[in-house]
Amino acid sequence: MNRSARITLYPQALKNNLEQVRLVAPNSKVLAVIKANAYGHGMLEVAKILHHADGYAVACVPEGLELRSSGTQHPILVLQGHQNLQDLKIASEYQLRLVVHDLTQLRYFDLLGKHKVQIALKIDTGMHRLGISPQDAFSLYYKLKNHPNIDPNIWLMTHLACADDLNNSATIQQLGVFTKAIKNINAPLSIPNSAGILGWQASHSDWVRPGIMLYGSSPFAFEKKGRENYKLQAAMTLSAPLISLYQLKKGDSIGYGASYHCPQDMRVGAVACGYADGYPRHAATGAPVSINGIETHTVGRISMDTLIIKLDNIPAKVGDRVELWGENISVDRVAYHAETISYELLCNAGNNCRRD
Ligand SMILES: Cc1ncc(COP(=O)(O)O)c(C=O)c1O
Repeated sequence: MNRSARITLYPQALKNNLEQVRLVAPNSKVLAVIKANAYGHGMLEVAKILHHADGYAVACVPEGLELRSSGTQHPILVLQGHQNLQDLKIASEYQLRLVVHDLTQLRYFDLLGKHKVQIALKIDTGMHRLGISPQDAFSLYYKLKNHPNIDPNIWLMTHLACADDLNNSATIQQLGVFTKAIKNINAPLSIPNSAGILGWQASHSDWVRPGIMLYGSSPFAFEKKGRENYKLQAAMTLSAPLISLYQLKKGDSIGYGASYHCPQDMRVGAVACGYADGYPRHAATGAPVSINGIETHTVGRISMDTLIIKLDNIPAKVGDRVELWGENISVDRVAYHAETISYELLCNAGNNCRRD
């Protein structure tokens, strides 16, 4: 199937963004978060490009297995940990470090025979997603440390819920809960995601876990602190060709639902990209695009395979490629127009589009 919308990967941008992590958190080791097919960018390809990272984080054991099987010797952290004994056996054999976040995961360790597995104990400090209670951290840490099937070098970690809001004191509270829970334990620590790395120096720990910033997107609201504030570069471009150009009259409607009416005579173009390619259907009229280095925007509803852009006097012809996001148009701006976040757009395009 050869649809003409494409994503293009920029290795140099990925490397630049990793370098920015190093500059901001110089005393930390970096686990590049490449779960969900590296946010749509391609897990194995990104892992190879980012081989200067100190390790990787993936979501689940099958992702970790695929990554390890590609030949990397780096540490691999599995953020959801094991869900059954089979996961545990694979993690032990392939040296995947499993996140232990729920007491039901413990029952499998006794069944591992003579093998050992590496783990990170995750403490829920306020996100209330995954993690054991802070009150249980001390006793559980030592119980696991003394377990014959667990490598005693256990990491301790937590995840920040509100680090993308620089005015929200929840992050300081979470860090306080974490500090208290791990008091008297000497173990490698892992706390921040991209927002923590860029916005909360107090969260920097032995291991940092950047995801979205590696791909060139700001974890903060783009209108306040966009990617350029952090010297991040877009690692992915989504582009598609113009397949038709035409003139409309003032008052003519465009697209499904006839939701847009031309405020004056307009020259527009149809681009061969729609929600089937991962472009957000909810992007409102006005979502930015770039053609031949000139910025313009969408008009009317996004359909499955096509979207319409305003051209007017912009020099353009059928076959010219339109950048839907990438170097010129930050994915954060498109996400804003679609009332979503860049993470979703990148994953969707990655899952739906062919690569150059
Ligand atoms: C536990 C954990 N750590 C780190 C990350 C990376 O987050 P971000 O992409 O915001 O940097 C994620 C992503 O969702 C995560 O779930």
